[in-house]
Amino acid sequence: MHKALGIISIKGGVGKTTIASSLAADLAANYRKKVLLVDANYNAPNLGLHMDIVEPDKTIHHVLDNKTNIEKAIHNRFGVDVIPGSYVYPRKIDFLKLSDKINKIKDNYHFVIIDSSPSLNEELLSTMLASDALFIVTTPDYPTLSCSLRAANLAKQRGKPIAGIIINKVRDPKYELTLQQIENSIEIPVVARIPDDKTATRAIYTRIPTPIYNKNSPFSKEINRLNAALTGNAEKLSLVRRIFPISPKKEEVNRQLLKEDFYTSLFSNE
Ligand SMILES: Nc1ncnc2c1ncn2[C@@H]1O[C@H](COP(=O)(O)OP(=O)(O)O)[C@@H](O)[C@H]1O
Ligand SMILES: [Mg+2]
Repeated sequence: MHKALGIISIKGGVGKTTIASSLAADLAANYRKKVLLVDANYNAPNLGLHMDIVEPDKTIHHVLDNKTNIEKAIHNRFGVDVIPGSYVYPRKIDFLKLSDKINKIKDNYHFVIIDSSPSLNEELLSTMLASDALFIVTTPDYPTLSCSLRAANLAKQRGKPIAGIIINKVRDPKYELTLQQIENSIEIPVVARIPDDKTATRAIYTRIPTPIYNKNSPFSKEINRLNAALTGNAEKLSLVRRIFPISPKKEEVNRQLLKEDFYTSLFSNE
């Protein structure tokens, strides 16, 4: 079942944490889902800052070090159960225990969203092992694409399904890789195309997830459309789409397939 979703990339700064926190906040606020959001970027855990958690007492580090029960590390913000990380933790911990820890409370949630580390080591592996399916975040440029390709190959080697590619920070499409170029090289469908949007910068400045800060921003609307697919709902169509019979964009068609895939997974015991 596609319940635990890892948000991965092997590059920093592409938008993993912004997207993970936004998917979680939007699922809770606009689809009434119970969501657990976990910071698995152990050496640079920024998720708390996106969710208005500063200097948490108990974190994922304490959980993995068996210093606390996982329930005690949960901080509820914006309707989401968040497990943040510690910027400084004095002991070495076994990141690969994440899967076991999450499994203890997974039944309490509709979705578990895991914000991954970009480091090609046990940190990323910890997210892969704890996830039922992965989303790869990429930006539409060649250097990032090559990293995304590596991430996809790694997931394939581990037998982890990749639910889709999320293209983030689309800024200047004429001079950027197209959806088709990205799909052709990674051979995974693109399920969202998020524009470069100042709202994301403003939201992190105020420590409010983007969909809560401004639900009508282009960033938030694309997150909401992706979540429609994850929850089996119809996408909200723009006014233009409602009036004119314009053919759907490729990512929208891909989301329809994703929706069926998630719906089917609800009834399977894989
Ligand atoms: N679509 C977007 N438009 C504008 N800024 C964005 C967008 N997505 C992310 N950002 C910004 O990019 C920076 C890096 O994002 P972050 O989520 O921390 O990346 P990662 O987790 O992959 O390292 C942050 O300052 C964030 O506000
Ligand atoms: Mg991050």
